[in-house]
Amino acid sequence: MNQRNSFFAFLIFLILLGCTNQNPVVFQEPKGEKYRPEYHFTPTEGWMNDPNGLVYLDGEYHLFYQYYPDSTIWGPMHWGHAISKDLLNWEHLSIALAPDSLGYIFSGSAILDEKNTSGFGTIENPPLVAIFTYHDMQGEQSGALDYQSQGIAYSIDKGRTWEKFKGNPVLANQGIKDFRDPKVSKIKDSDGVEKWIMTLAVQNRIQFYSSYNLIDWEFASEFGLEEGAHGGVWECPDLLPFISPDGKQKWVLLVSMNPGGPQKGSATQYFIGNFDKGTFSPDDQLIRWLDYGPDNYAGVSWSNLPKDQNRTLMIGWMSNWLYAQVVPTDTWRSAMTIPRELSLFEVSGTLLLKSSPAEEMKNLRGKPYDVSDAESALPSQSTELTADLTDTFSFSLSNDAGEEIHISKENGLVTVDRSQAASVNFHPDFNAAHSAPMSWEAKNMRIFLDASSIEIFINDGELVMTSLLFPSTSWSKIKINSGVENLKIFDLKK
Ligand code: FRU
Repeated sequence: MNQRNSFFAFLIFLILLGCTNQNPVVFQEPKGEKYRPEYHFTPTEGWMNDPNGLVYLDGEYHLFYQYYPDSTIWGPMHWGHAISKDLLNWEHLSIALAPDSLGYIFSGSAILDEKNTSGFGTIENPPLVAIFTYHDMQGEQSGALDYQSQGIAYSIDKGRTWEKFKGNPVLANQGIKDFRDPKVSKIKDSDGVEKWIMTLAVQNRIQFYSSYNLIDWEFASEFGLEEGAHGGVWECPDLLPFISPDGKQKWVLLVSMNPGGPQKGSATQYFIGNFDKGTFSPDDQLIRWLDYGPDNYAGVSWSNLPKDQNRTLMIGWMSNWLYAQVVPTDTWRSAMTIPRELSLFEVSGTLLLKSSPAEEMKNLRGKPYDVSDAESALPSQSTELTADLTDTFSFSLSNDAGEEIHISKENGLVTVDRSQAASVNFHPDFNAAHSAPMSWEAKNMRIFLDASSIEIFINDGELVMTSLLFPSTSWSKIKINSGVENLKIFDLKK
């Protein structure tokens, strides 16, 4: 090597040294409240379930959520409220909607009524409109069937304060017990007519309603009595447009269902097809699941994202109704998943939905630790692991208490085994192994660990498994058995 070349070789060596962390990984004990996630959204105290009213406005991502501030078990539902500029740091705001004489405030959505079709604002200052379900507890207890109806509220100060519409409910119930979780979006039909479409979960099916002003709603159609999984009640739907890999317009209908999920309890299924003039037509009769782990439910998408983001962004409730109310956290219950970007991909002619970690998650990364040994420490309880995979692989995470979580792919099945992952035994179904079919090749993974969860994204989210974990002490070690290469470990810090 001549002098010049050796100088460049040395320079490249220095650059590589600067990009990776050459120190041995040393585990730093967490300082915060036990099981409290460091970078997942949690309520400061009290009970939380579904994300609600996800809407973006003027640089702020709004996250409303099912909230009962007075207890860590489910109760009279409010909409809690937080905002973020970066999807990573959340500022807690005061409660947006509280129960009133019409009932508790159940799940729903929020939109920017840009053209002021509702008349709640002005063209210069268009209103945010929230569309939610009223749940009349007395009605339910008296044995009535029509105790759920849809109401609306609006804000003309960027979501800081909300006024309920005096004419609520805007959509009364016609005697169907489960009639809830309106997701509203503006949709232009093939004949160019633009309407508000409400996608509503009605017991064991979806109903679509349309409106020009968010106040008067007209029934459009019904979908699902003969399609999909029916092991439980349908809840929290979402209707989303996508472009397929071959450039075609497709519509995806997300439908959460409890119970009857692939891992017991709650889970989210989805349908792929077309939507026009108030009617959804599925392409096929396949049952598809958004996340094969046990702990991602009631996820919905953000509305009004800036066009240049060109993405569909969602977040889910990281729990399962099977045991959500008995998980061993102390002052609060439940976290949201990390935000995820949805897109379509194709496997042997079948379209499926991919959920990738939102791009912003990379902003949490410290310098990577490059790990070549079969065993390594983790730097902290908040880490991201990335690696290349061979189609069959196996590795485990463990802690000082001898607990272990085992992750593998064998014979076309991805398995996350948390049966040995906790000393606590709060529910008979929690300590279990969960498997997901993956007929195509696993090539790489990203894993997000936080104080009480693991989210596994194979091939950037072609297969996703989200699981809660309640170990006695934090996961501090990784051990590779086979098929995991180029492992990188990132300490995630806010
Ligand atoms: C889903 C759900 C919704 C309902 C809300 C009540 O988790 O059951 O259907 O609106 O929770 O908190």
